[in-house]
Amino acid sequence: MHSSVQRLNTLITLAAVLLGALCCTASFLDYFHIHSVHGTAEVIKIKKFRKQLNGNDEVTMTLNLSLDLRSTFTWNTKQAFVFLAAEYETQKNLVNQISLWDHIIPDKEHAKIQTQVSTKYPLTDQGSNLRGKKIELVLHWHLMPNTGRMIQDKLALSHFYLPEAYT
Ligand SMILES: *[C@@H]1O[C@H](CO)[C@@H](O)[C@H](O)[C@H]1NC(C)=O
Repeated sequence: MHSSVQRLNTLITLAAVLLGALCCTASFLDYFHIHSVHGTAEVIKIKKFRKQLNGNDEVTMTLNLSLDLRSTFTWNTKQAFVFLAAEYETQKNLVNQISLWDHIIPDKEHAKIQTQVSTKYPLTDQGSNLRGKKIELVLHWHLMPNTGRMIQDKLALSHFYLPEAYT
């Protein structure tokens, strides 16, 4: 009786150690997994470019997105959260970052995306700095693992200039 309890204990300890080692390995492998994310983002149309009553510039657009994040998926990836940010400089802030579109990719089979989207969120400036402004479109992704730490990365896809005048 005594010895079988002991054996069970040993077994449980061993299982815990193995599981711990497995988690470490998973996280370690993820860390060195090399991502090759490809993508293009083009502005098909500026739908609206105006100054709001409060003085802030607002832009809505249609975008053509082609994204391939299949390489980020490993057996340890639960899902990926992606967002496309408009990034630009103003005198007040070196980096202004505004999310235009976001998406959750549940698995590798859905990690290749080709879509035309209206910006889910408008590009709104804190002020009226956007006329003629250079805007960078940057893809960000957060990989949520089954075990281990979350991985974040980004890739600048393209840039464009906003019109000099409101529409
Ligand atoms: C969207 O992008 C894809 C891939 O670059 C291209 O084949 C397609 O013609 C584009 N569509 C539009 C409407 O620009």
